[in-house]
Amino acid sequence: MAVTFKLLSTALLLITCAAGLTLAVNRCPDCGPTAFPYPLSTGPTCGDQNYKIRCDAGSLIFDTLINSYPITSIDPLNQRIVIQPASLVPNTCITTDLPFNGVQLNSSLPFNITSGNTIMLLNCTDSILRSPLDCSATGLCHVYVNETSKAMACEAAPICCTFKAGGSATAYAIRARETGCRAYTSFVNLKTNLPVNQWPEPGMEFQWVSPPEPICGTQVDCDENSTCGPDPNSNGIRRCLCNSGMYWDPIKGVCAASGFGLI
Ligand SMILES: *[C@@H]1O[C@H](CO)[C@@H](O)[C@H](O)[C@H]1NC(C)=O
Ligand SMILES: *[C@@H]1O[C@H](CO)[C@@H](O)[C@H](O)[C@H]1NC(C)=O
Ligand SMILES: *[C@@H]1O[C@H](CO)[C@@H](O)[C@H](O)[C@H]1NC(C)=O
Ligand SMILES: *[C@@H]1O[C@H](CO)[C@@H](O)[C@H](O)[C@H]1NC(C)=O
Ligand SMILES: *[C@@H]1O[C@H](CO)[C@@H](O)[C@H](O)[C@H]1NC(C)=O
Repeated sequence: MAVTFKLLSTALLLITCAAGLTLAVNRCPDCGPTAFPYPLSTGPTCGDQNYKIRCDAGSLIFDTLINSYPITSIDPLNQRIVIQPASLVPNTCITTDLPFNGVQLNSSLPFNITSGNTIMLLNCTDSILRSPLDCSATGLCHVYVNETSKAMACEAAPICCTFKAGGSATAYAIRARETGCRAYTSFVNLKTNLPVNQWPEPGMEFQWVSPPEPICGTQVDCDENSTCGPDPNSNGIRRCLCNSGMYWDPIKGVCAASGFGLI
């Protein structure tokens, strides 16, 4: 009798644990040395599926619409990631991603290009001069090109322009194209008064929109602090909505207690 009870409770414990593993709010395992935060997802069973990025043999890769870039850092608290932009084809002022029209994000996904990026468009045709960008002969991009051996080939290309990203026109794309600018580079939080030899490595920063509560089919998909119910903002979708007295913490990906025990 006692043995049966023990077996039964072990079985129950196992079932509970197995159910725990199917929780929708489920952080993905780390990929290489970088701590990997919710809601980013490297697989179909963890994270939020709208926030897919790729883990390739310990390296994180960001897939754009038609190209891919290595991820160099992730900042979970500020919900930002930095990618390494394309480099120049050796001895030219053409970026390797010119055939893909530069960086093109899918605007239906929750990532966009932040205003922390200083973008330099290089090897431009004079059609760019009709734009409101700073393309002056003494502009920052000329200083960069003059003082960077990796960009030396760009000295032969007379027109380049510098601007701060993050406006609606560049929220989802930094374009390189044959009829516009054939190369670009980007710096995150660049202090433009620093000499070029103290600039950081090129990087391009994206931010992600706070994730909504996870999608569920039934209550089994939710944890003890949430209830599977219809999403008030989208028809036919059910989500693990936080129980009363709790609120959705999109950074930790959990329902947290509101207030200080007063509620
Ligand atoms: C600039 O782009 C044009 C068109 O792709 C190319 O022919 C030219 O070689 C490039 N300039 C430099 C300096 O690489
Ligand atoms: C953009 O993302 C949406 C949402 O995931 C997807 O349905 C669509 O197919 C994507 N577009 C392209 C061109 O990949
Ligand atoms: C870049 O170098 C060229 C050639 O040495 C020089 O004429 C130009 O003034 C320099 N431009 C800037 C912005 O430093
Ligand atoms: C990018 O996304 C953030 C977070 O949702 C939003 O606040 C910001 O306005 C977006 N930027 C642009 C240029 O659309
Ligand atoms: C549910 O909320 C309690 C109280 O805040 C917390 O201790 C517990 O870890 C939460 N459970 C889950 C699965 O997040």
